This record gives sequence, structure tokens and C-alpha cells, in this order.
Amino acid sequence: MPLAHRLTALAAALCCAAAANAQGSAPIKIGLMLPATGTYAGLGAAIENGFRLYVQEQGGKLAGREIQYFKVDDESEPAKATDNVNKLIKRDNVDVLVGTVHSGVALAMAKAAKDNNTLLIVPNAGAGDITGPMCAPNIVRSSFTNWQPAYAMGLIAGQKGVKRAITITHSYAAGSESTKGFAEGLEKGGGKVIKDLTLPFPGVEFQALLTEIAAQKPDAAYAFFAGAAAVKFVRDYAAAGLNKTIPLYGPGFLTDGTLEAQGAAAQGMLTALHYADNLDTPRNQAFRKAYALAYKSNADVYAVQGYDAAQILNAGLMAAKGDLAKRDVITAAMRKVTVDSPRGKFTLSAAGNPVQDIYLREVKGLNNEYRSVAAKALADPARGCKM
Ligand code: BEZ
Repeated sequence: MPLAHRLTALAAALCCAAAANAQGSAPIKIGLMLPATGTYAGLGAAIENGFRLYVQEQGGKLAGREIQYFKVDDESEPAKATDNVNKLIKRDNVDVLVGTVHSGVALAMAKAAKDNNTLLIVPNAGAGDITGPMCAPNIVRSSFTNWQPAYAMGLIAGQKGVKRAITITHSYAAGSESTKGFAEGLEKGGGKVIKDLTLPFPGVEFQALLTEIAAQKPDAAYAFFAGAAAVKFVRDYAAAGLNKTIPLYGPGFLTDGTLEAQGAAAQGMLTALHYADNLDTPRNQAFRKAYALAYKSNADVYAVQGYDAAQILNAGLMAAKGDLAKRDVITAAMRKVTVDSPRGKFTLSAAGNPVQDIYLREVKGLNNEYRSVAAKALADPARGCKM
């Protein structure tokens, strides 16, 4: 562990030992609701790894309190989401919920967190409503809204002279928000989306849709897919020869955590996201080194979001000296924190969503390499959030 992290861990231990003693040694119960199976399983694993890595760097405790994990595989299945989150809230009595990846599942989690006044940190799912009309003091996000990278990619496509684009995605909240965000950005540069193509989640039968893209001959295609579906889509797009004539753009989920499996099919692709693998900062380099050492694999954006979820929680707990009863102190501090993230420093908006730079990246080998800042300190409009 680097010296700076060792000193932080020591300070945390000294600061909070008294508070922890005062409350006995009960651990803080963290409910991890993430996908362990299905299309988004890899994303769930990286988020959990990142979260645990930060806790380990603090000596296995946050604000002097031991951490106990409770886990549910949400299968990225919205129909099971309410039952699953209630296992954590009502059966396991967790103090904090961390989850999840899929927007449809996360919307049900946010409702349950509001109804039960349970702290919720969303480490991926970008559904705008969670930090829009459903916003609440006990809910924050360490990731993005679907609009943020999509809008930035639309701006870039417009700057590249794209006039006619086609979008393609799974038909659920994240896909429709992402493609709308792209259209909004593109329109600023004088372009427009001529057709939106969809298929049900988590389907991967892309052939008919690829034929449609070829027939329409747009200037570019924009795809929102992630995990195993992103791997197959990018490979199928290249196998159909479309990457030679119609540039394929996307939010960075299209190529994050997927490059080994996508191989040559992804080389040179441009995407927009709040993280790039090769960000040349000591913070990012130390994080990637620690992650690779701990998990024998490369960190990706999902790992960063899990790591930062733990950082945000730690900020809240430190302000309350580990005392969970000081709920207002915790929620206020979680919103006020400047997160020293591997992606670069960021703050949270009043609605609880990261205000962050969105980078244009290009795939080179096994990395999504930084090219430029596509949108500086981009805040989600948080429409409908009243707090
Ligand atoms: C979502 O459902 O919000 C989502 C899933 C995977 C990657 C990005 C967003």
C-alpha cells in the first residue's frame, strides 16, 4: 500500500476508535445488490472488487468500524428486484445498500430505499429518474446518468460532421435515455438521428438490425450495449463489414471491460466516458496497480465506480465518526465530498449525481486511451429533482 494510503488508514483508525468503542464493535452491514449472472455479471464483479479494494486500503474498516457484506445476485432482472432488495433491507437489516448495474433494477432499489429510508449508493445504473424525480437525501450515485456520456458523444459526432445517424440499443430505460442523450448532443452540431433500432434486453440477435443499418447508410451508428452484449455487438458489426464504412460510436460501456473479448473488432473505436484507462495521474496509476495486484485483472470503469462508492460512504461515516445514528451528518457529508477518484476529482450535484469530465477515448490494444475532454464538468440536468 502506498505511504499516503497507509497514513490515511492510520488517521482513520485513530480518529474513529473512540466512536467505534462507544458503540460496541458491531460491524457496518453493507448490502451489495449486483448482477453475478447474465449479461452484466462482469460489471457486477468489477464493482464489488473496486468497493472491497478501497475498504482494504483503509485497513478493512471505514471510520473505525468493521465492514460486513451481505450479497444478492439481482440477475439484472427488474421483475425480481423488489423481492431481492427486501432480502437485504428486511431480512439482513443492512445499514447501507450498494447497487446496482441495470437501470430497471436500480429504479426498484431506489423506491425501496426511499420507502424504508435506507442509505443507497448507486455504483453504476444511470437511470435519470433516480437523481431526478426520485432524488432523496439518502440516495447518491458514484457513476453517471445515462444522459452524460451519451450527450458528450453526440457533441463529438456533431463536431465530426455527422448529419444522419442511426441508434441501436436494448429497449429499456438505460438504452432509451442514452440514445436520446446522443440525439440531443448531435443536434447541437446540426446532425440528426434518422432511426432508432431496438431489441429486448438481454437479446443478442443483431443480424436483422445490422442489415437495416447497412440499408440506411447513415454517416454513423451509435450503440448502447454493455458487458457480454457489447462484446457480441461489436464483433457482429465488424463481421458484417460495417466498421469499414459506418463509424460505430457509443458511450464507453461499449468497449469497457470488453476489449480482450472484442479483439481486432474494437480497434480504433471512439467512445465517450468519465474514465480512460491510461489517465496519466498518480491516483489512477496507483489504483490500477493495486487493482491488478489484488484481482489479477485490469481495472475498468465499473471498478472505479465501486471504489468511489466506498470513498463516498467513507466520507459520510468519517464525518459522523462512524455513528450511523447521525444520519443527517452522514448524508450531508456524502453530498459535500470532493472524491479523489482514479477518473479525476469530482463532486456531487445537489441531486447526488457526479459532476464530472467526460472524455473522448480511442481503443488501442487492450486500452481505452484518453484523447480529449469531450465535455468539461458535465452535470446532469436532474429534471424533476425537488429536495
Ligand atoms: C444501466 O442499465 O443503466 C447501465 C447498464 C450497463 C452499463 C451502463 C448503464
